[in-house]
Amino acid sequence: MEEITLHGSRILVGERAGNLSRYLPRGRVIAITNPVVRACHAALLAPYETIEMGDGEAHKTLETVDRLAGELVARGADRDTFILGVGGGIACDVAGFVASIFMRGCPFGFVPTTLLAQVDASVGGKNGVNYRGFKNMLGVFAQPRVVLCDPGLLRTLDPRVYAAGFAEIVKAAMIADASLFEYLERHAGEAARQDAGVLERVVSVSIKIKAAIVAADERERGARRLLNLGHTFAHAIEKCSRLSHGEAVSVGLCMASRLSVRLGLMSEAERERVTGLLAALSLPARVEVPLPELFAATRADKKKSGDRLHVILPVGIGRSEARVLPFAELERLFTGLNGEV
Ligand code: GLY
Repeated sequence: MEEITLHGSRILVGERAGNLSRYLPRGRVIAITNPVVRACHAALLAPYETIEMGDGEAHKTLETVDRLAGELVARGADRDTFILGVGGGIACDVAGFVASIFMRGCPFGFVPTTLLAQVDASVGGKNGVNYRGFKNMLGVFAQPRVVLCDPGLLRTLDPRVYAAGFAEIVKAAMIADASLFEYLERHAGEAARQDAGVLERVVSVSIKIKAAIVAADERERGARRLLNLGHTFAHAIEKCSRLSHGEAVSVGLCMASRLSVRLGLMSEAERERVTGLLAALSLPARVEVPLPELFAATRADKKKSGDRLHVILPVGIGRSEARVLPFAELERLFTGLNGEV
């Protein structure tokens, strides 16, 4: 077990969920989860009062927040009640948001039950919901007290949901750690089979990369923007396709890599290593979305600034940088790629 700290958060990687109570306060704990997670992890949730929300992105809304807050009021929760988000990224984001605004803020923590939530959604302090078609448009920065990442919880995951988490791990490697990228290339098979040692190592290294970036720039004024590698395109892809967030990030990483090749920031051989690693981890490199549709959705992304797009581009493998590209330039660069996404 390894403990990583980030602005008061204790992030426990490799700790067993059975030891959860050791890390929670003695007082009242209310878990927020969904029926799918509850069915898979009944023993974990059994000791706690539980409130359910729906499963899936469609439930990451103010209506869900309203309903959960109503439940907390009805149950007499107060500012000392500890809110425990148990589930994937959506459950954690919504639980963290509700906890942060309920009575101006209750202590909260997460037990992420997907790989994506363990390496990304539960770490970093951004909590929020989608609003009027915009992803994560309403939210707060507030750090969970504790995040318990137990690799054993991932065994019940659908293989496609499990694989999606690797997109964020590959992203972390592309941003900051060429040796993590190489390790993943050598151990993709074991990672896919949930080899405990490999999984714990890549989860822990990936969280440390994110934690170091967030520690330096919690409010996303500078360095934290690097964590958006692949995400501006991914958010648009999620709107225009049936891909999950992690799968869309995978395609977004490939798109950003192709832009980097066009701009001379990355070699073609490096780009092929990116698509090769993602493929070895059962992740997609492309999606059937017409470019005009994708650009329209990208323009609508909240990170746009007038006619220009803030985009993070890989520089080789293990480093990335922020660029501002005019949309016209972006469209020209992609059109030069035969209009394929
Ligand atoms: N909660 C996810 C993040 O802060 O990035």
